[in-house]
Amino acid sequence: MTRRLVSVSNRVSIPRKQAAPGGLAVGVLAAMKARGGLWFGWSGELTDEGEPGMEVVRRHGASFAVTDFPRELFERYYYGFSNGMLWPLFHYFVETFHYDEPSWDAYLEANRFYADRLTRVLEADDLVWVHDYHLIPLARLLRERGARQPIGFFLHIPFPHHEVLRCLPVHEQLLADLCAFDVVGFQTDNDLRCFRDAVARLCGEACLAGPDELRVDGRIVRTGVYPIGVDVDAIVGESDRSSQGEMVRRMVASLTDRKLVLGVDRLDYSKGLVERFNAFDRFLQDHPERRGRVSLMQVAPLSRADMRAYSAIREQLEQLSGRINGRHAEADWVPIRYLNRNFAHESLMGFMRVADVGLVTPVRDGMNLVAKEFIASQDPADPGVLVLSRLAGAACELGEAVLVNPYDTHGMAEAIEQAIAMPVQERRRRHEGLLDVLRRNDIHAWHGKFVATLESVASPE
Ligand code: F6P
Repeated sequence: MTRRLVSVSNRVSIPRKQAAPGGLAVGVLAAMKARGGLWFGWSGELTDEGEPGMEVVRRHGASFAVTDFPRELFERYYYGFSNGMLWPLFHYFVETFHYDEPSWDAYLEANRFYADRLTRVLEADDLVWVHDYHLIPLARLLRERGARQPIGFFLHIPFPHHEVLRCLPVHEQLLADLCAFDVVGFQTDNDLRCFRDAVARLCGEACLAGPDELRVDGRIVRTGVYPIGVDVDAIVGESDRSSQGEMVRRMVASLTDRKLVLGVDRLDYSKGLVERFNAFDRFLQDHPERRGRVSLMQVAPLSRADMRAYSAIREQLEQLSGRINGRHAEADWVPIRYLNRNFAHESLMGFMRVADVGLVTPVRDGMNLVAKEFIASQDPADPGVLVLSRLAGAACELGEAVLVNPYDTHGMAEAIEQAIAMPVQERRRRHEGLLDVLRRNDIHAWHGKFVATLESVASPE
């Protein structure tokens, strides 16, 4: 009998209702479509008084159970602890990180709120798969409420080195809570190493039971690396269709034969957009023959816009793009097209297909699916070139990209030049290798492997 998969995450993407951006939403949705089951999380609605509502809808053979959230609690848990403390710290932004106890209390309370509501819809034979840093205490809280099901956790963002992690006063509690899961999965070997090292410091070396296991309080916790992938065939179809559509054709016509360098990122300080704009500025200064012949289009939809760190990076980018455009623009050419808006996924895949260069240069990233989407969306006969940060998890798999250090302005400027000037044979060779990696480890392999591990906890051999 196939056991029901219950995926749990703060952000839920119900098809046709709301398309949440980002890797988590894409990955979990693929698992739900492939296997069915239930996806539980936040509805996107906040309430000011009364009992928050819950709704269950069915789509594509899966169910989506979503709960509204009390506004005040959500703000302290989501903006306060999850994105004000865990997000910067786990992305190595120690200076952006701060800590206060009321936010930590709200984080625990929000997790209790989720645990209470999830307990109502859980069935005895379920496999429970919890996603991301918002929900680290959930396994412990579900166990306290009597849950006996196998419970796994996957972290979509980086796991930091212990020296950074221990800036957080409650890091030992978080590590203990992670060890309450049966399976704990990460994007890269480095994340896994950091986690195991941190647990060993807390519980002693003896807890490192085997390469894929920890022994904590007499229990076995499976640990592993499950790099998230993309649905290659779906993107090939989308990018092909969209590149012939009205929106992409108009954009291409507006380029009037100029080369297109493309960036697509949520507007987040971890994405390295300031460094990227500076590198493009440097590229135009160092290669004056490229002026008027290359355009950078940066799509950067707003994200977590109510937070100070996010409005600050937004202001900085507005000033910087204005300054660079003011410095280099001609009557018929503006170097940077900076768009604070989102597009349908299909349109983005079309933009990627017609781009000559894809810039994916975060200063820190768990994986970065834009890098993988860029590869999958290319025309194999005339592919664009991916310029990828070594500090993105994706760089561990995508060695055939042009790899850069996002802090190295000169190096990035030269990487842009190298990508633009790359002969078609080399572009095809690199693209073939990269596509092969994507196909071997696509989105179905990701959820298939994680769920298989969770199932083996349920029925040990
Ligand atoms: O894991 C990080 C992540 O969930 C990404 O998948 C996604 O891009 C982003 O965070 C979305 O953040 P939020 O839910 O805060 O909008």
